[in-house]
Amino acid sequence: MPSSIREELLAVFNNEKETYISGQMLSEKLNCTRTAIWKHIEELRNEGYVIEAVQKRGYRMTGRPDKLSSDVVKRNLTTNKIGQNIHFYETTPSTQRIAHLLAQQGKPEGTVVFAEEQTEGKGRLDRSWHSPVGAGIWMSIILRPNLPPQHAPQLTLLAAVAIVRAIESELNITCEIKWPNDILINGKKAVGILTELHAEADRINSVIVGIGINVNTTKEEFPSELQHLATSLSLEKGGDKIDRASLARVIFESLEEMYEKYLEHGFTFIKLLWESYSVSIGKQIIARTISGEIRGYARGITDEGVLMIEESDGKIQYIHSADIEL
Ligand code: BTN
Repeated sequence: MPSSIREELLAVFNNEKETYISGQMLSEKLNCTRTAIWKHIEELRNEGYVIEAVQKRGYRMTGRPDKLSSDVVKRNLTTNKIGQNIHFYETTPSTQRIAHLLAQQGKPEGTVVFAEEQTEGKGRLDRSWHSPVGAGIWMSIILRPNLPPQHAPQLTLLAAVAIVRAIESELNITCEIKWPNDILINGKKAVGILTELHAEADRINSVIVGIGINVNTTKEEFPSELQHLATSLSLEKGGDKIDRASLARVIFESLEEMYEKYLEHGFTFIKLLWESYSVSIGKQIIARTISGEIRGYARGITDEGVLMIEESDGKIQYIHSADIEL
């Protein structure tokens, strides 16, 4: 059966949230037999969609599956590499660890590790990443760019730009990026990205891009110390539940598009896009580095993705790793 019928069926149910639609009407709209409609409805039910059937009125969708599975994510995925190979875990300490192992075993570029829950999710600067079950997209992606290791930070910025564009197009939510890789919505963090490397002196073997997206996390699910700093996409959409599989798919497509352009044309266009989404460029910021605090105006990023801060005496400081306060 062509999967477009399934997609059209889902679109009709999504548009007609409250109304029942008869099998006859569906078959006319989708230009297929009623048996085909019935088969697709059964298939959707098996995937966890709740579809009511009432005699003389028709069908109505009242619930959607809230599970990430490689089948659902891969359906209609248009990428060549990213997301074509998915390793899925119900629970794991950290998808980063698994992705590192898989990378060392030689798994191909674009391999993704997903988990419904991480018990030891890892953040930047040795922090932990809160990853409650079923609430977010917790995933690590293996890339194998033919680049020198000093270009790796560019991939973090590339990932941030790709994710912002995916969230904005899929959900119509405006995002900002805080250097290097925090994605903020209305000033609160919704997405974190952690990039780790396997490299030799002159060559990257693999990059593991770890992405944590608070998708359907409720306020109560955040630890109390994070509640005023963190948000989720659903909270920013007024509590609507967001389909994680569709979002993951759009992110893979956006990421692959950016990555291919980057490999072909270099970093300049990513840099421009990144600066256009940046919350800090032109603003006075404090960068807390391991060797102390640097205060000044964020002036932009270098071609290596390093943050430039202009201090009050006009001196430019180059920041490779820090926590930024706005
Ligand atoms: C940050 O500190 O902002 C980066 C957070 C990165 C979290 C993601 S969730 C999936 C992957 N697995 C991990 O353990 N960490 C990353």
